[in-house]
Order: sequence, then C-alpha cells, then structure tokens
Amino acid sequence: MPVIAVVNRKGGSGKSTLAAHIAAWCARNGSSVMLGDVDRQQSARAWLKRRDASLPAIAPWAVDQKNMLRVPTGITHVVLDTPGGMHGFELARVVMFADAIVMPVCNSMFDRESAEACHAELMTMPRVANGRCRLAVVGMRIDGRTNAAQTLEEWSESLGVPFLGALRETQLYVRSLERGLTIFDLQPQLAAADLAQWAPILQWLKPQLYPPQAANDGAGVVRPPARTLAPRGAVSPLTAPGEVVSRQLGTLSGSLMPAQESLVQGGRMSTLSASRTTPAPVRPPVAPTLVRPARAADSPLIPQFLKRSV
Ligand SMILES: Nc1ncnc2c1ncn2[C@@H]1O[C@H](COP(=O)(O)OP(=O)(O)OP(=O)(O)O)[C@@H](O)[C@H]1O
Ligand SMILES: [Mg+2]
Repeated sequence: MPVIAVVNRKGGSGKSTLAAHIAAWCARNGSSVMLGDVDRQQSARAWLKRRDASLPAIAPWAVDQKNMLRVPTGITHVVLDTPGGMHGFELARVVMFADAIVMPVCNSMFDRESAEACHAELMTMPRVANGRCRLAVVGMRIDGRTNAAQTLEEWSESLGVPFLGALRETQLYVRSLERGLTIFDLQPQLAAADLAQWAPILQWLKPQLYPPQAANDGAGVVRPPARTLAPRGAVSPLTAPGEVVSRQLGTLSGSLMPAQESLVQGGRMSTLSASRTTPAPVRPPVAPTLVRPARAADSPLIPQFLKRSV
C-alpha cells in the first residue's frame, strides 16, 4: 500500500491543494484511495465533506470501535496532507510511513529558505537519504510570465532534488477546491494547460500510483464492494471524467487529531516484526492503525514500532 505524503514546513505553500489532487487522481484512475490529514486544521477532511457523492470516491480515515484512526480496509493508496511547521518527531513519523514525499514550494526567498531547512531535516532521515522514501519538489502558484519556475528548478537542482515542474497560479484551483473538486474532475478543455502541468508529477509518482501489489486488505478484501472501478490506466490526466463511483465515506471523529497520533502501518509493521521472529510470517488481519504515541519529549528515539526495514 503506497503512501504519498505532501510535506513542507512553510504554511500556505500548497500542501492541501497538492494532496487533494493526488488523491483525486488516484480515485479517478480507479484506485481505492484514502486522503488523510496529519494536520490539526483538517483541511483534507473539510474538502472531502464538500466533495459530491457522484465523483470518484476518496475515503477519509476510518475510526474503529476503540476510537483509533485506521486506513479503511480495501484501501490501496494513501495520501497524507501534513501541517505547516511540521518537524522533528512529527516529521520523522510521516517519513517512516511514506514511500514518496512531494514538497510544494512557492518562489520567494522566504519560501525557498524554509523549504531548504525542511529538505535538510528530511535528509537527516535514513529513509530519505537512502532513497527508500523518494523526494521531489513541485513549484506552486507560479506566474508563467516570470522566471520563477526556472529559479525554482535551479534551486531544486542545487539541492539535488528532482524538480517536477511548476503549477501556475490560477483561480481554477481555488474555485475547484471550494466545490470539493480538483482540476481532474473538470471538463478537460477547461483545464488543459493545468492538466498538462500535472503530467510530469504523475509520471514521477508512477512507482507509487502503479505498484506491483497495493492492498490494505488483511482480511482479503481488495475493494470496497460498492465501488465501480474503471480499469487501471483507463483515465489519463487529459481524459474526460466519465465513471461514477459510489462513495463510502465514514465520518471522522472530531475529537481525534491525527497530528497527535502515531502512524503505525499495522499490516506492514506486524509482518516485518513477525518475519524477524518466525520463519513463516502470517499476514495480520487488521488494517493499519493510528495509535497515540508517547510525547516527543518523552521519546527522544523513534519507537520500535515505527521502524521500517531499510
Ligand atoms: N496553483 C494555485 N493557484 C492559485 N491558488 C492556489 C494554487 N495552489 C494553491 N492555491 C491557494 O493557495 C492557498 C494555500 O494553499 P493550501 O491550503 O493548499 O496550502 P497549505 O500548504 O496546505 O497551507 P497550510 O500550511 O495552511 O496547511 C489556498 O487558498 C489555495 O487555494
Ligand atoms: Mg493545508
């Protein structure tokens, strides 16, 4: 189950916008995707509430009987929206979970400096440094009449981070998101220029978007039964939306704050730890779980349960 996180400690850099679009792309492409906030603002949750039931479904966190946040059964792709200012233990937790991180960066000195600090911290984390968690930059809200995209590309290259291109500044994003939409949900002719800008981003995300095997289905349930799924690859960034997928969105308890929870990819973690102690690891029957961690101040080291193989 690939996990794509959108990370930048600079507030307002476009994280929620990117996260919603990546999730919508997965949904439109026929994947069972969850968009989850690791964010006290709960931007993704608010956006999902605006999303019409006739659109390709994007699931939120599920809340189990113990009031824990879980990736719903049947989900094959997870997209995480993260808060501005995230660093230290909180950032490490997301990195331990993520297979790819997309960092949206606007072009100002302040934005670049902030992103540079974020990148430096990410590179101290083995999963990013050794490439197990991939990292790339997307230019956000770029005015095509300026050299902002080029400046960002050169900056990105100087850091040794792939630059996936720039998304132009347009009210299309603002208006779409207000209506629970993304530009992938619009008639393609309305957003042709913007859809084209997404092509290299989706190309870079291909290993996560089309993994060999992607299922959080401990009980063997691969898809929520009510969904009608288009064949994988049937919809391209430039293809008109066509399919109607029924929604299976639960409600997220308002008392739960994912930003204060630990990410524990139950299936994968359990399998890894089992493989160390038993010759024949058994796939656990539970979905990935979020549990409340010890506070960072109490836990200078990353807890054992967050560790992944390298
Ligand atoms: N390409 C774009 N063109 C115009 N406006 C955009 C574009 N991308 C994002 N925005 C707008 O910029 C604002 C900030 O975007 P967004 O909320 O995605 O940032 P964020 O990084 O999630 O912010 P926060 O750190 O507060 O969570 C929003 O009003 C959003 O609609
Ligand atoms: Mg946000």
